[in-house]
Amino acid sequence: MGITFDKSTQFFHLTTKNTSYLFGIFDNNYLYSPYYGRRLREGTDLKRLWQKYPSGFSPNYEGAPSVDYALDLIPTEYPAYGGGDYRNPAVGVHFEDGSRIIDPKFVSYTITDGNEELKGLPSLSGGDQTLEVLLRDEPSGVEIVLHYVIFEDIDIIARSARIINGTNEAIRVTRALSMSMDLPIADYDMIGLYGTHIRERQIDRSPLRHGIQSVGSRRGTSSHHHNPFISFVSKTTTEEQGDAYGCALIYSGNWIGVAEVDPFGGARVQMGIHPADFSWKLNPGEEFVTPEAVITYTHNGMNRMSQNFHDAFRYHLGHTKNRNKRRPIVVNNWEATYFDFDEEKLLGIIESCKGLGIDTFVLDDGWFGHRDTDNSSLGDWFVHTGKLPNGLTPLIEKCEEQGMTFGLWFEPEMISEDSELYRAHPDWALKKNGRPFCRGRQQLILDLSREDVLEYLQETVGGVLRNNRISYVKWDMNRHFTEAYSEALPPDQQGEVFHRFVLNLYRFMAYLNENFPDLVIEGCSGGGGRFDAGVLYYQPQIWTSDDSDAIERLKIQYGTSMCYPPQAMTAHLSASPNHQMNRVTPYNTRALVAQSASFGYELNPLHLTDEERAQIKTQTDRYREVSDMILKGDFYRLINPFNTNACAWMFVLPDKSKAYAVYVRQLNLPADPVKVLKFQGLDPEAVYHIDELDADFGGDELMYAGVALKHLWDFEATSFTLTKK
Ligand code: GLA
Repeated sequence: MGITFDKSTQFFHLTTKNTSYLFGIFDNNYLYSPYYGRRLREGTDLKRLWQKYPSGFSPNYEGAPSVDYALDLIPTEYPAYGGGDYRNPAVGVHFEDGSRIIDPKFVSYTITDGNEELKGLPSLSGGDQTLEVLLRDEPSGVEIVLHYVIFEDIDIIARSARIINGTNEAIRVTRALSMSMDLPIADYDMIGLYGTHIRERQIDRSPLRHGIQSVGSRRGTSSHHHNPFISFVSKTTTEEQGDAYGCALIYSGNWIGVAEVDPFGGARVQMGIHPADFSWKLNPGEEFVTPEAVITYTHNGMNRMSQNFHDAFRYHLGHTKNRNKRRPIVVNNWEATYFDFDEEKLLGIIESCKGLGIDTFVLDDGWFGHRDTDNSSLGDWFVHTGKLPNGLTPLIEKCEEQGMTFGLWFEPEMISEDSELYRAHPDWALKKNGRPFCRGRQQLILDLSREDVLEYLQETVGGVLRNNRISYVKWDMNRHFTEAYSEALPPDQQGEVFHRFVLNLYRFMAYLNENFPDLVIEGCSGGGGRFDAGVLYYQPQIWTSDDSDAIERLKIQYGTSMCYPPQAMTAHLSASPNHQMNRVTPYNTRALVAQSASFGYELNPLHLTDEERAQIKTQTDRYREVSDMILKGDFYRLINPFNTNACAWMFVLPDKSKAYAVYVRQLNLPADPVKVLKFQGLDPEAVYHIDELDADFGGDELMYAGVALKHLWDFEATSFTLTKK
């Protein structure tokens, strides 16, 4: 295993437990990139894979040995514009004289043990080895450093690039992707996670076709609409077997994921910051660092691909103390009260949590400024004395009296026109003075690309956290960007607004983690509109969707699990009929679906019957019992809710001693063909006891023959708790 450079073949060979990633120096200059797949032995010379095509209309680069040598025909590691490769470049630069031509060629490399995190950007840590390859455009002096980190045991490679202005004039970087990879064969399906607000991360699987297929976001955040994850799988790949490539971007702003199928049957796969609406001025000597892309390959199907990402994000992403610990079971008051609350009502709700096994009460939107609906006060992070005349203290004390802690909602990146902040600083909103501007949910976006705005947030949000005993924060972000113009930046840097915003957002998140290390921060953006590895670096869990209906959540959580571990998803049991769907579902189903993630409640405990209170107590006890599996277990998708009338998944502890499975019926079918549930990931030699069936089974029987499913009516669910004997 490890990273090697073979001097005789001139190939870099990045080897993980089960995979090889090879690229080599071609014709002394260019990075030829022929292979990513199952592990190959050291010394394999893949130059033999290069085929000379008839090169009509593919111009030859200067010094090419023959007319067969054209960049248009060579699988290239990090392509640039101008030298006859007509596919999408990975990098673009504008020089002061208007030229955009660069021709990066190999200069040198270094291989070091371990890895260093990227400067100013979230990235993986704890890697085994790092490779850096230096490329230079000799005529100008622009340099590019390609950065690779391998994580051997989990078959993960992290990639990023640095663009260095080695010229003596300012340049503008107009495109700086995190990774580019030329797969020699394009015979794959592309998988993406598309969606909307209240219907996030639905799975789309479509065949690649000639031309460019891309997904991404130009909304300022990673967005509900496409998630920064793409995958390429063979036509026959299933959850359990077949080739699967995955690429995820550790970034929370505008992004793009592209596959370009060329006429010769190859596919160029790329991921990084969306080049539209982006440019970055680099003065001489300065460098631009791209976000990190995380890639993986397996021949064991989509589930293994997902498990590789889950392990990368559970064990190598971020430093929050709470990442792999059970997070509190919360009651959040949003769906219980919306904006309509006062001290008395909240004290009643907190009081009614007594005896339910709840850890934390979270006060949602409406506690600050004079906010009684969504048209005011964002930015005014001081208590709404109309509703809470005695401040937060009585609520905090009430929680503590009952052995609970207190949590609070913020939406730091926003500003309302009706706010003291806006009256004092109208130029702190992202918009162009003198032009009309959009409102989203009646609010504007704070120009967080500005240093003074960052300082204001650190002082005000930090102040509330410092002056009150707050153990939990829900961090929201409820609109997308328009008129992205900063009054603080000069004209030639307006293309930097989106990325500067994200960089300062990360600085702010890091500030809170450093200053309040015990605080659990839950990410949120109108539900799951910023569910990405960038946020997960700082915040261990994210509100998965504003749709809390258990049946809709099956698809949302199943889709989200393609890239993200279930412990990163917040899921709450909410009232029935459900507020988004008006659907009536059994308590047990709502519990089992929400308990498959970071669990909590979104309802008014004052409205519960005694029977329901008893059920909740059982559920919270139960969650404490299974939470180890939710946190540390390997996750298996068993039945797909997108193309069946059911859904099932399971968690297996890595030592296979315990497992927990959930099966949910969507709509009932007469004479239902689904009668058996087959488990995965168990020890075939072992005997497991299933609590719910009070019976023993062989691990082989459970995986290969399965268990009989009892009849379930619409929306009913059942669980299986397995213990190895
Ligand atoms: C967003 C969140 C909700 C709630 C509201 C409050 O929509 O996703 O959970 O916090 O904002 O305004």
